[in-house]
Amino acid sequence: MYNINSFKIKSSPIILGIESSCDETAAAVISGRKLLSSEIISSATEQAKYGGVVPEIASRAHTEAVGEVVRRALKNADVSAEKLDGVAVTFGAGLLGALLVGLSFAKGLAYSLNIPLIAVNHIRGHLAAAYLVAEDLKPPFITLLASGGHTAVLHTKSYTEFEVLGATCDDAAGEAFDKVARVLGLEYPGGVNVERLAREGENSVKLPSALVKNATRMQFSYSGLKTAVINAVHNAEQRGEELKRADIANSFQRAAIDPLVKKTVESALKRGIDTVTAGGGVVANGYLRDTLTKACQKAGLRCVLPEKRFCTDNAAMIAAEGLTQYLAGNFADLSINARAQIPLK
Ligand code: KG4
Ligand code: ZN
Repeated sequence: MYNINSFKIKSSPIILGIESSCDETAAAVISGRKLLSSEIISSATEQAKYGGVVPEIASRAHTEAVGEVVRRALKNADVSAEKLDGVAVTFGAGLLGALLVGLSFAKGLAYSLNIPLIAVNHIRGHLAAAYLVAEDLKPPFITLLASGGHTAVLHTKSYTEFEVLGATCDDAAGEAFDKVARVLGLEYPGGVNVERLAREGENSVKLPSALVKNATRMQFSYSGLKTAVINAVHNAEQRGEELKRADIANSFQRAAIDPLVKKTVESALKRGIDTVTAGGGVVANGYLRDTLTKACQKAGLRCVLPEKRFCTDNAAMIAAEGLTQYLAGNFADLSINARAQIPLK
């Protein structure tokens, strides 16, 4: 019988991570904190035809890819399934149908191998990606979270606990990047295309900052910034002026990212914490990485950023968070269900 109370906890387990919350089917293997393999099969090209992620297409693509991506991850790690000590899988947040594919596969694997199933919150996975680049990284630190669904500055107090110091009151930064991409006529996935266009432009368009002024606590807002971009585009069109798309992209990128960097560094200094980490798709942005790294250097802070490929959705981060949960003995029952939404706190 499969009994979650019967598992012994090893200090340096081999864990398979599986991720299928959106349009990437991913699997990765870690041994302790050492990453052995990380594989992704993406349906992004297929989704791009529709200008965004179509849930039905995502679920079908995961069904086709999950077996193969796990096979590749095990092969490249040179680990046989029998050597695994646990299976970590994203159970939320994300597209329900998409999540169920990875979750069901992971349950089957955990059951057949009689090893712990570890249910990972996708966002905690993004936060754990930093552990993959620095063997010695341990809490406390200040973390900038900037993804498609969340934007916040966190005080990571321990491996399992964090406090939200400030967050967006409306859209997430990644969402704003995607919407601005659409307004500028750029293809899905939008964020990286805004970044490319921004490199050709200058910061010449006046836009509101994403930092909410005079708020009682740290707060960001992206909906005003997004509307200002839409207005800038429409005004130029109405006046028959040449649309400086690259300048708009550049100005938007700065208005979106500068306050996040500033507040992250300020939070660390204010709390006397010497290390800063970051996670989420927007952290793949080169401008964010440069400015945050430089701002930390200037302030005498250590800055640990996950590799770009581990900022956007991947399974290495799910395995990394899986390790934390495994060591805490936090195992899931086979009856666990997928969840479309999980509050940040
Ligand atoms: O963390 P993520 O992969 O998915 C979740 O939301 O969990 O984040 C995806 C978001 C998208 O909104 C995408 O536009 C944004 O991250 N993104 C970027 C870049 N790469 C991905 N935003 C700005 N610059 C990038 N290079
Ligand atoms: Zn994500």
